[in-house]
Amino acid sequence: SLESSVRLLEVGPRDGLQNIKTSVPTDVKVELIRRLASTGLMNIEATSFVSPKWVPQLADGAAVMEQVWPLAREKAINLPVLAPNLKGLENAMKSSAQEVVVFASCTEAFSRMNQNCSIDQALAQAQSVVDAARERGVKVRGVVSCIFSDPYSGPTPPSQVLRVVKRLLDMGCYEVGLGDTLGVGTPQLTRNLLDVLLKEIPADKLAGHFHDTYGQGVANVVAAYSMGIRAFDSAVAGLGGCPYAKGAQGNVATEDVVYTLETSGISTGIDLDKLISVGGWISEQLGIPNRSRAGSALLAK
Ligand code: HMG
Ligand code: MG
Repeated sequence: SLESSVRLLEVGPRDGLQNIKTSVPTDVKVELIRRLASTGLMNIEATSFVSPKWVPQLADGAAVMEQVWPLAREKAINLPVLAPNLKGLENAMKSSAQEVVVFASCTEAFSRMNQNCSIDQALAQAQSVVDAARERGVKVRGVVSCIFSDPYSGPTPPSQVLRVVKRLLDMGCYEVGLGDTLGVGTPQLTRNLLDVLLKEIPADKLAGHFHDTYGQGVANVVAAYSMGIRAFDSAVAGLGGCPYAKGAQGNVATEDVVYTLETSGISTGIDLDKLISVGGWISEQLGIPNRSRAGSALLAK
């Protein structure tokens, strides 16, 4: 039933790769998206259309999209791409993107480091992207960063998260992902924040985007699920991290989220065995350890 199913957004090809120092060949990125698409994942963040000076790893976004967008057509898979400003939107449109993602930090310090502008300036750019995208029938999702803490200025007041999330929803984002950029959230912090947000925002407008620095990612997903959240972002093999948030680890691993939900009778529509082999494959390709606990355990069997 709908109540017992969740929608997962796989962010491995974007969040997962953006911070990897060695350059990942375009063919590997394309093959990763193809393999992910064969697991039953219906939403895969494919790349970013941001400044190549800021995120060199994803400078080949157009080349990736050229090869993967037919997947979106054939299999009706959603392939959102990051586009923080009109230049990003323009490039995303040239690449046939059907959905774009705008983002803003809940905190001023991280906003400066990640987007070189204030929160309000980032929101104004997001607004211009939303307006232009909707004219072209393109869906826009929002993501906010630093929901619990900012790497430069410390803890984030929940009222500040509420303000930025509401602005993104009011401008026309269909949903806002709640980004724990640093991965410092715990179930208690997750419940406290959602207590504040859910007083003014319906649960189906929110998604969890948890990084797993302290190993709390799955626990945070479960805490958010128990409060009505049904959409989560995750990355295969626990890939991920933001170049402008030092020490932050990858996203909660998609394999771990699927394992937890499916063993609780909550449907994800994803073939866990296939997903686990994708996690093993990409870890090998990148030469890094597989950070999915369920994936590593089941691959070792
Ligand atoms: P800026 O330097 O202030 O921008 O950067 P600018 O407008 O002055 O432009 C400078 C140059 O960049 C110009 O080129 C522009 O054309 C170019 P030049 O004339 O020097 O040759 N440029 C672009 N090129 C391609 N695509 C674009 C684009 N925009 C400008 N879209 C800017 C401002 C926002 C562009 C920059 O700071 C940027 O790209 N930041 C993005 C950083 C980023 O991608 N971070 C990671 C994603 S967010 C994240 O990971 C968090 C999340 O996962 C949630 C969570 O975990 O919290 C979502
Ligand atoms: Mg992230």
